[in-house]
Amino acid sequence: MSQSLKILIVAGARPNFMKVAPLMKCIARRNASAPSGSPRLTPVLVHTGQHYDHKMSEIFFQELGIPAPDINLGVGSGSHAVQTAQVMTGFEGVCLEQRPDWVVVVGDVNSTIACTLVCAKLGIRVAHVEAGLRSYDRAMPEEINRLVTDALADLLLTPSEDANDNLRREGVAESRIRLVGNIMIDSLVDNLDQARRSKILESHSVQRDAYIYVTLHRPSNVDHRESLAAIMAALERLSHDYPVLFPMHPRTRKMLEDSGMGVRATDSLKIIEPVGYHDSLCLTEHARLVLTDSGGLQEESTYFRTPCLTLRPNTERPVTVTLGSNKLTTIGSLTQDLHDVFRRPRRIGEVPSLWDGRTADRVLDALVLCGR
Ligand code: UD1
Repeated sequence: MSQSLKILIVAGARPNFMKVAPLMKCIARRNASAPSGSPRLTPVLVHTGQHYDHKMSEIFFQELGIPAPDINLGVGSGSHAVQTAQVMTGFEGVCLEQRPDWVVVVGDVNSTIACTLVCAKLGIRVAHVEAGLRSYDRAMPEEINRLVTDALADLLLTPSEDANDNLRREGVAESRIRLVGNIMIDSLVDNLDQARRSKILESHSVQRDAYIYVTLHRPSNVDHRESLAAIMAALERLSHDYPVLFPMHPRTRKMLEDSGMGVRATDSLKIIEPVGYHDSLCLTEHARLVLTDSGGLQEESTYFRTPCLTLRPNTERPVTVTLGSNKLTTIGSLTQDLHDVFRRPRRIGEVPSLWDGRTADRVLDALVLCGR
């Protein structure tokens, strides 16, 4: 590296924050230990404002020790077209003013695709962290975001070998692909001590290894009245046998309210507000079972070797099934799948390689190596 490298890092929605935190920390660490007079990495953190509630955004900045964003586009909610367009409009001005050497986007949310598109048109280089994941289900908005982002980004930084295979099948040149590992796990490892001090179990009167931790927010599960009603009925039945703790995403809550079903919690079906990062890690480590449709929770369960049932017909994270503790399920097969889980040991599966807490270093190595 001959001069300072300006790296603009984009965060938009809740699952992005645990992916940018390790990058910000690693840049600060490298700058602090660089010999005086040697070139610096200059980070610029941009929050698009896709998620804006305290419980969906700010709490993660506080818990993960992410510095306040240098720029907040404040786009908020909207249809996909509106949200994507607003991020693009705001981000174009930022790029023209900042002229970064690299833009780093993470994950698969609308902010990821929007910022990548802007850079592709401006000729600014983009690195995509968590590239190459595919569910092969284009009904998922995230799949469209992944495909377009990976088609346009210059450097595709992948979490696992299956992602490299997907990209090769799409004809991506090897020179654009780097296997760096799973950056979510950097945050997990870094926050484990604090997660283990969480009081969330006591606050909601659940015992270690004796509750089900539920998170559900995917449009395919919650945006249609029938599927949401079937899910809520299944959770209610389940809760007769095992306490269920369900921190509810605002999207799910809104759908329940708008459809007239209402949010009906009981003593054993505990429906609570979204929880912070440390509480969520604590709930995942100590649950007897995680039931989810989130990508991040499939990975975190695999790290803790906590059994996970994913309420989806597919996953873009197959390594969590082949090696890890995850299994796909449906409302129809849920009861049987649950009994199978309870017959098996408390901890199952293996942690994939390069889920080692050092991915941010490998990301920065790749950016520095590719230079300005
Ligand atoms: C987004 C991501 C999804 C990710 C999820 C995690 C896309 C396409 N989807 O979905 O991949 O798994 O975040 O949360 O980018 N809302 C609030 N407060 C907020 C944010 C949202 O109340 O801070 C409500 C709004 O009513 C909004 C709805 O939740 O319309 C959905 O938010 P949106 O950002 O559109 O998508 P998510 O479902 O959160």
